[in-house]
Amino acid sequence: MTRQLVVDLLASESEREEVLVKGWVRTRRDSKTFFFLEINDGSSLKSLQIVVNEGVPGYDESKGITTGAAVSVKGRLVASQGKGQSWEVQAVELQLIGAADDSFPLQKKRHSNEYLREIAHLRPRTNLFGAVFRIRSKLAFAIHRFFQDRKFFYVHTPIVTASDCEGAGELFRVTTLDTENPPRGEDGKIDYSQDFFGKSTYLTVSGQLEGETYATALGNIYTFGPTFRAENSHTSRHASEFWMVEPEMAFCDLQEDMTLAEDFVKSVIAEVMESCSADLELFFNFVDKELKQRLEFVVSRPFKRLPYTEAIELLQSSGKTFEHPVQWGVNLQSEHERYLTEEHFKCPVTVYDYPKTLKPFYMRANDDGKTVAAMDVLVPGIGEIVGGSQREERLELLLENMKQHGISEDDYWWYVDLRRYGSVPHAGFGLGFERLLMFVTGVTNIRDVIPFPRVPGHAEF
Ligand code: 4AD
Ligand code: MG
Repeated sequence: MTRQLVVDLLASESEREEVLVKGWVRTRRDSKTFFFLEINDGSSLKSLQIVVNEGVPGYDESKGITTGAAVSVKGRLVASQGKGQSWEVQAVELQLIGAADDSFPLQKKRHSNEYLREIAHLRPRTNLFGAVFRIRSKLAFAIHRFFQDRKFFYVHTPIVTASDCEGAGELFRVTTLDTENPPRGEDGKIDYSQDFFGKSTYLTVSGQLEGETYATALGNIYTFGPTFRAENSHTSRHASEFWMVEPEMAFCDLQEDMTLAEDFVKSVIAEVMESCSADLELFFNFVDKELKQRLEFVVSRPFKRLPYTEAIELLQSSGKTFEHPVQWGVNLQSEHERYLTEEHFKCPVTVYDYPKTLKPFYMRANDDGKTVAAMDVLVPGIGEIVGGSQREERLELLLENMKQHGISEDDYWWYVDLRRYGSVPHAGFGLGFERLLMFVTGVTNIRDVIPFPRVPGHAEF
């Protein structure tokens, strides 16, 4: 007999004569001639109540069945007399699979998220983290469905790369050189031509450049994979390893790019609200009381679109004093993003046409000579979740930009080639998967929506 999932048993329409469930004990309550177990197998937020009467095979050896232990139960699924559940299992046979002694750290009381991060290998066994990671799985699936339904192709861009897409120098080097004693050239510098790949290589910060090569062949593509940034940011929204979704579309301009980003964010949130409704209740009730309303609002209303220049004017005339002064040409800081999304518009805001000095080499120059066709989607509570742009498809202008950014044409010859052979307007964006998950769950720290967070100073597990 194969085991049945708790989620399926709890949704049963009738009693069942014989079921087999396996899971981990959340609680045990003893009476004189019987005891109750709550067991959870990870398939749902809800646990299943088991009633074990004296005399049932396994009863006498059941002392070791304590919180955290793994058990197997055969029994009858019957309507529950107790409150809080419609079904329970009357055990006819009980077996301890793996004991957990008193040192098991998850007790019935609520533990802080900070403490649970220290035991990240056990935290998915709590209600909150179980729900986060079930939603994470469904959200990933919703993302694939969104693009597959629109006939986008999923492209696997490389993890190891020689290029720095964002040009911010936040790269993790990949090397097999002997770090104690690396080969050096005549100038005394480390000679990376002797390294594994014959050149300097890094973990990718974005799959975009490689994605562009496939968009200009397959039309519409997306990547969805891990990206890495050696950025020394100690914030609740930055991780050194995070997952990014990057669609790239041929024959597409910035307006269409912004429309896709908006449809995308709304559509995947709506799908998860549908497919994860039971898990989401936990976040609505215990994590953020305004979350439900916020999500319903976001999926049903248009996002505000605003040129960067107008955003600056708006911030300047807001009458607020910001810690970081507002001035045309500076990056929007988190306090500015919050003002726009939370106080002024009270909705997601897509800011576009940024000063070209703030942005990487690949963005398309606007006719004003000062701005580029860039856009960021900002959402309440988080700030930027999407960053994208129309790409510079004009050879001369791209080469000029590369020169200004100090990027060698020799290194990026293949990228430049796309502008030599059948160049077309194209655009795309990157969405931070964890930031979207934070937005969907109301969880305020990125470390709590990624199974094993990597942030400066931490790579445990
Ligand atoms: O704005 P970014 O840097 O854009 C790019 O990398 C482009 N190449 C994307 C493209 O056009 N194809 O990053 C995109 C998104 C951000 O909006 C943010 O949501 C997320 O990636 N992100 C991070 N998420 C977590 N931790 C970090 N350190 C992040 N850095 C960026
Ligand atoms: Mg960005």
